[in-house]
Amino acid sequence: MGMKKILMVCLGNICRSPLAEGILKSKLPPESFIVDSAGTAGYHVGELPDGRSIEVARKYGIDITNQRSRKFRKTDFDKFDMIFAMDQSNYADIVALSENEEQHEKVRMILNELYPDENRNVPDPYYGGDQGFENVYKMLDEACEIIASKLE
Ligand code: 4NP
Repeated sequence: MGMKKILMVCLGNICRSPLAEGILKSKLPPESFIVDSAGTAGYHVGELPDGRSIEVARKYGIDITNQRSRKFRKTDFDKFDMIFAMDQSNYADIVALSENEEQHEKVRMILNELYPDENRNVPDPYYGGDQGFENVYKMLDEACEIIASKLE
């Protein structure tokens, strides 16, 4: 069996999806899985994750400082097996770029792992305080625990 490849996507790829990438990676054996992240917007391409994401990850023992923001591209549909959107706006933006049913079906709302069919958003913590990042970390940790348990 080949490597399973999972992509986490938010808007800027500096707050939520870098956390999702780091958390899921920490729960899966690296020899069998590739986990990456991207943003639907290119505002922060090449930048490190937001310092508040770096800090909350570090607090839970995960280093995400190897990550750099990149933009989602159409070739990601073929490169990855599953694509997790952080919110409904990310979901709509990704699906709008899909060109067939197979690509469309790869896209999921990450919190549907915890709350099936509810299409709940991971709140964008960018304009909030540190508590928003703690909250986001906890919901992503729970969702990634379920994703990892299904994949292993
Ligand atoms: P993210 O958060 O999508 O979780 O990375 C954001 C980061 C930057 C911006 C918006 C959301 N921004 O508008 O620059």
